Amino acid sequence: MVAGAAAAATDAAYPKLSPFLVIFLCFLCGCSHLCAAATVTYDHRALVIDGTRRVLISGSIHYPRSTPEMWPDLIEKSKNGGLDIVETYVFWNLHEPVQGQYDFEGRKDLVRFVKTVAEAGLYVHLRIGPYVCAEWNYGGFPLWLHFIPGIKFRTDNEPFKREMQRFTTKIVEMMKQEKLYASQGGPIILSQIENEYGNIDSSYGAAAKTYINWTASMATSLDTGVPWVMCQQADAPDPIINTCNGFYCDQFTPNSNKKPKMWTENWSGWFLSFGGGVPYRPVEDLAFAVARFFQRGGTFQNYYMYHGGTNFGRTTGGPFIATSYDYDAPIDEYGILRQPKWGHLRDLHKVIKLCEGALVATDPTYTSLGQNLEAHVYKTASGSCAAFLANVGTQSDATVTFNGKAYHLPAWSVSILPDCQNVVFNTAQINSQATLLETKYVKTYGQASDQPINSSEISESSWTFIKEPVGITKSSAFTKVGLLEQINTTADASDYLWYSTSIDINGNEPFLFNGTQTTLHIESLGHVLHAFVNGQLSGSGMGNSGNAKVTLDKSIMLAPGKNKIDLLSVTVGLQNYGAFFDLWGAGITGPVMLKGEKSTTDLSSNDWTYQIGLKDEELGIYEDSGDSSIWISQSALPKNQPLVWYKGYFDAPEGNDPVAIDFTGMGKGEAWVNGQSIGRYWPAYVSPQTGCTTSCNYRGAFSSNKCLKNCGKPSQTLYHVPRSLIQSGKNRLVLFEEMSGDPTQISFATRQTVSLCGHVSESHPALLDAQSTAPNNVPMLRLECPYPNQMISSIKFASFGTPHGTCGSYNHGKCSSDDALAVVQQACIGVKSCDVEVSIKLFGDPCRNVIKSLAVEAACS
Ligand code: GAL
Repeated sequence: MVAGAAAAATDAAYPKLSPFLVIFLCFLCGCSHLCAAATVTYDHRALVIDGTRRVLISGSIHYPRSTPEMWPDLIEKSKNGGLDIVETYVFWNLHEPVQGQYDFEGRKDLVRFVKTVAEAGLYVHLRIGPYVCAEWNYGGFPLWLHFIPGIKFRTDNEPFKREMQRFTTKIVEMMKQEKLYASQGGPIILSQIENEYGNIDSSYGAAAKTYINWTASMATSLDTGVPWVMCQQADAPDPIINTCNGFYCDQFTPNSNKKPKMWTENWSGWFLSFGGGVPYRPVEDLAFAVARFFQRGGTFQNYYMYHGGTNFGRTTGGPFIATSYDYDAPIDEYGILRQPKWGHLRDLHKVIKLCEGALVATDPTYTSLGQNLEAHVYKTASGSCAAFLANVGTQSDATVTFNGKAYHLPAWSVSILPDCQNVVFNTAQINSQATLLETKYVKTYGQASDQPINSSEISESSWTFIKEPVGITKSSAFTKVGLLEQINTTADASDYLWYSTSIDINGNEPFLFNGTQTTLHIESLGHVLHAFVNGQLSGSGMGNSGNAKVTLDKSIMLAPGKNKIDLLSVTVGLQNYGAFFDLWGAGITGPVMLKGEKSTTDLSSNDWTYQIGLKDEELGIYEDSGDSSIWISQSALPKNQPLVWYKGYFDAPEGNDPVAIDFTGMGKGEAWVNGQSIGRYWPAYVSPQTGCTTSCNYRGAFSSNKCLKNCGKPSQTLYHVPRSLIQSGKNRLVLFEEMSGDPTQISFATRQTVSLCGHVSESHPALLDAQSTAPNNVPMLRLECPYPNQMISSIKFASFGTPHGTCGSYNHGKCSSDDALAVVQQACIGVKSCDVEVSIKLFGDPCRNVIKSLAVEAACS
């Protein structure tokens, strides 16, 4: 059965330039896609660049989630992983923090980012939004937008449309000025407007349609010369391409036969919330999803995220999105390859590219090979042929007959045959090496250790501190009757809002028992609340990512006379998703009551005095590079107390490995290194005991909470400090601890690769680039040290037979060859990379009629 009409075939390869010409053109114009303007159009099958349909592999890297110093390496690793395109959102609230005042410095240097991608020879997909979601504060909208009279977000509303158009135009013009669109010789081949509005548009009634039509014509009128997409917008008007988002998109079809099937967000993992377990997505399933998409007619696919990175400062959305945005992406938060995820996908990309000619030429022909067994074949008039064979069953492996030959198909897997005969890749069979990373705790002048070293860098006596006062101290404080919603009050200038009132007690009040005791009852929209009575912390409460609201009931004692009630309400990233997300609100909207056994008094309508932000936050003490005298140094450092600022100095950990701070021992707060915020820390928020799996079965549909780890432990203990924030010599660390912490327990650590591993079976396809040289196409186990100048120095484990376990904990099975260790040592020690044949020719046959595999763990130095 042929699915859809076959489009006209154009399998012309794109022109190859001579290396000399490339160097010359690079010299002239900084390699910006060699200056030549390209036309980018599309048709039913694919994006068409300069007349050639393309299969394109893309990956998301959000520029502000790493540092400009990290960008070249991340982009290089993306290129080596087989990406053609780097995709990023544009973050409005970063660039226009105050209406009309723009900022494109440092991590916000969008032009530099786009140019860095271009220099690596990759394309860019610029998703301007300007609503982005992205687990980013307020979905990327600047807070001032909320205060424009009459504004309603993301609907047919003039004030909103005016601002959206102004910012979108600003970005497009900026890109044009720098000649960054492909139509001008730049790398940008695609742009997105809006984001996933289709998920929520029904809440906006008929105005939604008017808004989306306006959005489409506004974007198109900006005349970028490259196509626009809308993601998750089934009714995206022509010429905008509607694209798919999700863990799987093989069943998606665009809204016109003239548009290609594109997947703008293939979620490579999932985001972490404070208070949640750590999500991960097995690469066998991710590769399966990608292969299924190309099997069923897709030609453009983007990993969301390829490098997730870090939510520095107060950029996380939420509420409760953690500081780490690692996302279980192929490149981890620190910029280290996550193996075997990165490598297995690289192998997949190579194979898909081998199929490119056939893939873009025609729609696939589908044949059923049995229940849950599907073949899709792309066959061109000129004779090229690529086939995808899938077993979408979750339980059993199968053997299918295709073109008269038998093929073994593991459950939940796709085999790819770029010549319609030989399996070159199966999504469930990983040839790529795995790596084992460890956190090495460092001491500047001592030995590295696997265990946290308390006060490793900063000795107790060198910490200084400031106690943040409880309650109102700033002259800007103001008094109002009743309880105010927090975001409207602070405009998100700070996480913190003090609500302060007092009550006179004579001892006879009916809401008291024993003349002094009562229950303080507080209801808040969230996200965190600390209640102080007469200067002492009485209790704290917090919401979670599923429900931000907080209700606190605390038994308190009041004294005769005036009693002060100071409530500190704290936001942890503003809502970034959902219909009318901007109106969800936060803070203590009440009621606030004193509840006795017999009666209750409601304080909600009292006079409340408000203070936005902390006293010492306003003073900017985290930016202060001098040793201002407000810092107190005394032998008894206050520990495990709320509202304390700490300052200490540390030396740069040696070497080049990425650096993290382990905040074990601290409660919740924010941290600054040399004046730059590395984000909110919150090791005190522990994930639930249940819901995790030690090894997650990749077979079967994935969902965001299917595979979690780290249950019962702090959601995040390690916090990335990019090397570029650290200078040689003295570095300043400032913390604001909101709840209770002991800074002397903080450790500095580096993330290091300690082992390389491989586990390859006789039944795996041969390595792609070894196929012509490998005798009889035998599978190979390949190990390669991650850094230049490294060599394989030891083989920690080798077993040929039926070994089991995972990297770092392999064991011999019942069957194992005696020669394995010696053979692998001989092949691998002293070299940077080695290929070892997985065959009985090399190892002998320790158990006949059993499919054997080779497992190796090695170290580099
Ligand atoms: C998508 C959204 C992204 C991101 C993702 C979850 O729906 O478009 O911006 O929020 O979900 O990580």
